[in-house]
Amino acid sequence: MHILVTGGTGYIGSHTCVALQQAGHSVVVADNLSNSKKETIDQIKKITGSRPGFYKIDCTRETAVDRVFSEHHFDGVIHFAGLKAVGESVEKPLKYYYNNTLSTMMLIDACRRYDVKRFVFSSSATVYGENRAPLVETMPLLPATNPYGETKAISERILSDCAAVNPGWSVALLRYFNPVGAHESALIGEAPSGIPNNLMPYVTKVARGKLKKLSIFGNDYPTADGTGVRDYVHVCDLAEGHVAALNKLTRGVHIYNLGTGRGTSVLELVRAFEEATGVKIKYQVAPRRQGDVAECYADASKAKKEMGWQAKRGLAEMCLSAWQFEKNYGQ
Ligand code: WQD
Repeated sequence: MHILVTGGTGYIGSHTCVALQQAGHSVVVADNLSNSKKETIDQIKKITGSRPGFYKIDCTRETAVDRVFSEHHFDGVIHFAGLKAVGESVEKPLKYYYNNTLSTMMLIDACRRYDVKRFVFSSSATVYGENRAPLVETMPLLPATNPYGETKAISERILSDCAAVNPGWSVALLRYFNPVGAHESALIGEAPSGIPNNLMPYVTKVARGKLKKLSIFGNDYPTADGTGVRDYVHVCDLAEGHVAALNKLTRGVHIYNLGTGRGTSVLELVRAFEEATGVKIKYQVAPRRQGDVAECYADASKAKKEMGWQAKRGLAEMCLSAWQFEKNYGQ
């Protein structure tokens, strides 16, 4: 199939482009490069041998989106493009509501005009809000603990309502848990600019000596070792989940958790990283971070049952691949 991947030079988007091409699909990337680099297109080509098409556009701009659709006959869209810094979304809610929901609406409207009937949406486990883990797709959504999560829930709602009046449409809402790691080539990976918000890129920068020590945000949670528990999933498993969603998509709206179904605490992840890489990670315990929940991990059975997808890569591979990318990218 010929697929438009918005946000395709980003972390999950670039890994998904690789998986799509390796599954025989052709790919066009649309990205505004606000949080990624155009060189990622070259890296994708180095890995797969095919260069995706590329448009530097902002998906909130109707004319720009329309030009892309007018120059291609897409069989489907995978929509990653969006702002995703949870903390920033609390400080700048309008920026997030504007960008994340308007880009989704622009793409839906372009699909309507150009009769594109498959839409895969990059959603997030944050839509579950304070629901208790293990998180199941049928759970009623509670308010997310931040505007970023709300923009994902609103986009899900808009897609569901539009699909309801376009019976030929097939929509997959993929709720990611905590994507970590990098492609085995170490040519693509998670490269946040500045001080990382997320745990794994922070750990790899401490391992490299770029940051002094890790602050563990709270060790007084009601969990086995008191630190926060999350469902870390290898980004390549996540990418393969998108290919499975596209291949297995049927009419209507389908919601899937993309996680391992296993919870890992911060301390467990630090220990797994030390074991996999042989690098000691210095840390200190710090106060809890606002908006954090104690536990967030998936019930991953629906994706396995309906798409035949499950995460294959373990924690050691997640840590090692993240470390390889840090060493390679940091050069
Ligand atoms: C993981 C755990 C922290 C950093 C967020 C978004 C989610 C997705 C992934 C976009 C928590 C602890 C972290 C640090 C720490 N993003 N931690 N010290 O918050 O689970 O999920 O990022 O889609 O939507 O909500 O990920 O990596 O920030 O935190 O102790 O320096 O590590 O408290 O327990 P999170 P995270």
